[in-house]
Amino acid sequence: MILKNTSEIDIVRANSTKINDVDFENLTFGSVFTDHMLVCDFKDGKWEKPVIKPYEPFLIDPSAKVFHYGQAIFEGMKAYKDENDDVWLFRPDENFHRFNKSAIRMAMPEVTEEIFIDGLKTIIDLERDWVKKGDGNSLYIRPFMIAIGSGVIANPSTQYRFMIILSPARSYFAGEVKVIIADHYSRAANGGIGAAKAAGNYAGQFYPTKLANEKGFQQVIWTDDATHTKLEEAGTMNVFVRINDTLITAPISDRILDGITRKSLIDIAKRDGIKIEERSVLVDELLTAAKNGSLKEIFGAGTAAVVSPIVGFSCQDVYYELPKIENSFANDIKDKLTKIQYKQAEDTFGWMV
Ligand code: COI
Repeated sequence: MILKNTSEIDIVRANSTKINDVDFENLTFGSVFTDHMLVCDFKDGKWEKPVIKPYEPFLIDPSAKVFHYGQAIFEGMKAYKDENDDVWLFRPDENFHRFNKSAIRMAMPEVTEEIFIDGLKTIIDLERDWVKKGDGNSLYIRPFMIAIGSGVIANPSTQYRFMIILSPARSYFAGEVKVIIADHYSRAANGGIGAAKAAGNYAGQFYPTKLANEKGFQQVIWTDDATHTKLEEAGTMNVFVRINDTLITAPISDRILDGITRKSLIDIAKRDGIKIEERSVLVDELLTAAKNGSLKEIFGAGTAAVVSPIVGFSCQDVYYELPKIENSFANDIKDKLTKIQYKQAEDTFGWMV
């Protein structure tokens, strides 16, 4: 039953809600989804009208190109609720532009602002009860696009499905984060798709990450594919290293995701006079700093992970524990970022929508 029919988006409401079955205090990241999803198909060279409808499985042809050639991209975003029950998005325009960059790289059609941004606002407004107040609570937003055209010839699909699904979230990691510095496998290469939020970038990490998990590490910090001498990013987050009082993070390239949390932390650091360098950290430099005590912190930054301090790392089978320090940049910068996101601090950057 269509209850609301704006000229842009049809809304078919679910008959009941699952919200009362959800334990919002004990959420495993990305495991619970809200009552509705947004669906918009691309065919005959154009986007159709988006529809928001009850969250449910759907059928696609077994020969759809997403299954065979991995034409699939996504974004990760969050909505936050402030003390006045207003719901906020953090820099959605950045996700919109990055989504379309990923689409271009994967030979997929770009989505329009009406579909992506207005679609987001409409579905989040409908699901606003799922955005819980309070520090650490958010609604994780997963816009994605898959190739649904059938046929196993290896060329780009002519039909696509854009969707938005929503998942109430607390923290991404259940405990401490320890990492392994990669010395064999790689995440990305020059000229490749590392900068795109392409599904395969994540699948390709699962096996080396599983090997790391078996040794008690949560993530891999990737190094450059050619020499394995420069730190790049971790599987689900960009990486910041603090040596003495300087924060360093790898520069954006073909191989690094242009993280929105990453660029926001850089802006906050610059505003607050923290010395920040966008350059590669050499593995040797990291080891020297760990040995002489100048390595103070390593942390990951991403939408899902927010700012996640790393407690130790393994490199060439030697484990290095990070010092426990007061005045941690990770804590300070996380606090500043999340206060903006929860509207507890002035949004001097104009990031919140
Ligand atoms: C995000 O931070 O939104 C990501 O894309 C990481 C995701 C793979 C969980």
